Amino acid sequence: MRIAVGSDHAGLPLKESLATQLADGGHDVLDLGTDRPDSVDYPDYAAAVGVAVASGRAELGICCCGTGIGVSIAANKVPGVRAALAHDVTTARLARQHNDANVLCLGARTIGPLVASEAVAAFLSATFAGGRHARRIDKIRRLEEKGSGV
Ligand code: RB5
Repeated sequence: MRIAVGSDHAGLPLKESLATQLADGGHDVLDLGTDRPDSVDYPDYAAAVGVAVASGRAELGICCCGTGIGVSIAANKVPGVRAALAHDVTTARLARQHNDANVLCLGARTIGPLVASEAVAAFLSATFAGGRHARRIDKIRRLEEKGSGV
């Protein structure tokens, strides 16, 4: 699978270890940075991953920042992206099964590397359950197309 990865400086060590895990697992990793420890702005990297996924350049994306919150907010601004902040294996698995998430967001300062690694494995191996969940994803798509009316 082609997987886009991106992070800010806070998420860099976790992003690097996850990129290695993905490559070792036979995935084609599209690393969109950052690749240096200097302070950068997380929306830039979340947007790069989001655009890669929304455009079809990558099938899925993984974004890391300190908490995972910033990258999840930013990635979700890209139409077609369903970015989910996960804290463990269960939330990562359900993000795929129930929410058809296409970008997984993780906090390098809030979860340990083993939990993050297992969360990524769970995210990649889960599949969208469809059924009633598909109806809900359609409603999200419509929100994106037509706005909330506010
Ligand atoms: C960077 O210091 C930090 O604010 C960022 O990585 C992230 O946690 C934001 O949500």
